[in-house]
Amino acid sequence: MKIGFIGSGNIGRTVASCFLRAGHSVVMSNSRSPETLSDLVKELGPKAKAATAEQAAHEGDLIVVTVPLYALPKLSTSGTDGKVIIDTMNYYPFRDGHIASLDDGTATTSELTAEHFPNARVVKAFNSIIASEIQTTAKPQGDPQRRTLPIAGNDAEAKKTVIDLIESIGFDVYDAGALHEGYRFQNGTPAYCARANRDELIHLLQQA
Ligand SMILES: NC(=O)c1ccc[n+]([C@@H]2O[C@H](COP(=O)([O-])OP(=O)(O)OC[C@H]3O[C@@H](n4cnc5c(N)ncnc54)[C@H](OP(=O)(O)O)[C@@H]3O)[C@@H](O)[C@H]2O)c1
Repeated sequence: MKIGFIGSGNIGRTVASCFLRAGHSVVMSNSRSPETLSDLVKELGPKAKAATAEQAAHEGDLIVVTVPLYALPKLSTSGTDGKVIIDTMNYYPFRDGHIASLDDGTATTSELTAEHFPNARVVKAFNSIIASEIQTTAKPQGDPQRRTLPIAGNDAEAKKTVIDLIESIGFDVYDAGALHEGYRFQNGTPAYCARANRDELIHLLQQA
C-alpha cells in the first residue's frame, strides 16, 4: 500500500518508518515544502518520498492525518474522497485554542476530523501512544508483553484495514466502537497512553 502522511513530526515520521518496515511505501508532507523533508526521506529510504500535503493525499491509498488540531481547518480535502484516514490528533486547548464542542463533550476530535473530510472514512488511531513508544513497545504477535491499542470509527471496512496495518507493526488492536466512542481514549482519560493488554484496556476504557 502507498500511505500518504499529512504531517511528518514525531508521530508521522515514527509511524511512517514502521509502515515502511512492514513493506509499504510512504509519501511525507508538512506545512512548508517537500524540500524541507529531504533529510527525513533520505533517512526513511527509497520507498519514501516527500510531496505537498495535497499530493500526499492524492497519492495515498490510505492517509494519515497527524498535525496539531489547530491546523485541521486549514487542510485541503482534495484527494481524500472515499479514502481511509487515520486520525492521530489530540486536543490541547493551550496549543489548539478552545473548541466549544470538545470542551462540552458533544463531539470528539475525530468527529471534527470526519466533519472536515466528509467523504473520507476516518479511523481514530495512534492518538493514545507516545510517539517514541511506537517503536520501543512494539512486540511480535503472541508475545505476552504485546500491547493493545484502541481504535474507533464508523466504517467497519476502514477499521479492518487499520487493524491489519497496526497488527502488522507490533500491536494488538481493540475496536472501541463508533467514532464518538473515541472520547474514551482521548488525552486525560485512564486509557490514554496506557501500556495495557486487551483486558486491561477494556477495563480502562469503561472508566471514561
Ligand atoms: N507526540 C506524541 O507523542 C503524540 C502522541 C499521540 C498523538 N499525538 C497527536 O498527533 C498529532 C501530531 O503530533 P506530533 O507530535 O507528531 O506533532 P509535531 O511533531 O508538532 O508535528 C506536526 C506536523 O504537522 C505538520 N503540519 C502542521 N500544520 C500543517 C498543515 N497545515 N499542513 C500539513 N502539515 C502540517 C508540521 O509541519 P511543519 O513542521 O512544516 O510545521 C509537522 O510535520 C497532534 O495532534 C498530537 O497531539 C502526538
